[in-house]
Amino acid sequence: MIPTEKILLAAAKRRTIRSDQTNAVRLFDGVGDGFPGLQIDDFAGRWIAQTFGKTQPAIDPAVGYRSLYWKPLLKTSQTGPEYLAGERIEEPFCVLECGLKFEINFRAGHSPGLFLDQRINRMHLRSRAKDRSLLNTFAYTCAFGVAAAAGGGSTVNLDLSRQSLDWGKRNYEINQICAGDHDFVYGDVFDWLMRFQRRGRKFDIIVLDPPTFSRDRKEKVFRIQDHYGSLAALAADCLNPDGLLFCCTNFRAITFNEFLGTLRTAIDRPFKAVPGSMPPDFTGDRYLKTVWLQL
Ligand SMILES: C[S@@+](CC[C@H](N)C(=O)[O-])C[C@H]1O[C@@H](n2cnc3c(N)ncnc32)[C@H](O)[C@@H]1O
Repeated sequence: MIPTEKILLAAAKRRTIRSDQTNAVRLFDGVGDGFPGLQIDDFAGRWIAQTFGKTQPAIDPAVGYRSLYWKPLLKTSQTGPEYLAGERIEEPFCVLECGLKFEINFRAGHSPGLFLDQRINRMHLRSRAKDRSLLNTFAYTCAFGVAAAAGGGSTVNLDLSRQSLDWGKRNYEINQICAGDHDFVYGDVFDWLMRFQRRGRKFDIIVLDPPTFSRDRKEKVFRIQDHYGSLAALAADCLNPDGLLFCCTNFRAITFNEFLGTLRTAIDRPFKAVPGSMPPDFTGDRYLKTVWLQL
């Protein structure tokens, strides 16, 4: 049994983060909350517990979840987290992040639709987006796009998955943002960046938040350690003067300074680099490297 008092303490520490504007948080973060190997993400009372082991975590219902699901951390499940206790989640539902709504689906596969570790960066983007154009690459469910559109920007979301782009359109609509006023582009990020470069199409802000590894429909492989530099260089060519390039990776095998070094080598112009932040509910490993480049 995972010590109940540790979970209650972790929840108490997050009391000021959860509010009537935000109800999706990392409720428990491994070593940061005194129990390595356990993470709990709370999506409006529906919890996903993640563990390294293969044994189902035993969590006392008295800690106050509405539903408890489980995902082994090392397994890339395509079927979503496994039901353990409480209410079963059969349908997608909405959570709130800083007043914006996002659709969550526990049956969608590897991720339920929102990466909670980018909350602060999304809000920063929202605050910078007014009257600016955003290209949101590797858009997934378009959470960065929603944040920028809510901040008054025009947005283009780009992804290899039509299903994710449709999910993204629903995320716009549930926030009363007309998806038809924004663009949702299907295809490979490299192909599209090259096309934009050839056509001289420029954006004010570009978000580069790729997976660590991916393979497109033509079996072309993307690996952070091999391809981030060329990705960033291409994106830099598609930025307006004074543009902002937001670069991220959660690849654990490189440090922030190595990541920044890759960007400095790849981009042939001087830039000011301002590190992004992880939200305060992420008290464990600082795996996420994010940086805003002012070119
Ligand atoms: C980890 S998610 C990105 C997270 C996203 N930036 C967010 O804010 O939620 C990975 C996404 O990248 C997309 N993807 C992977 N390789 C791609 C490629 N070569 N071109 C376009 N999209 C790609 C996948 O379809 C998936 O939706």
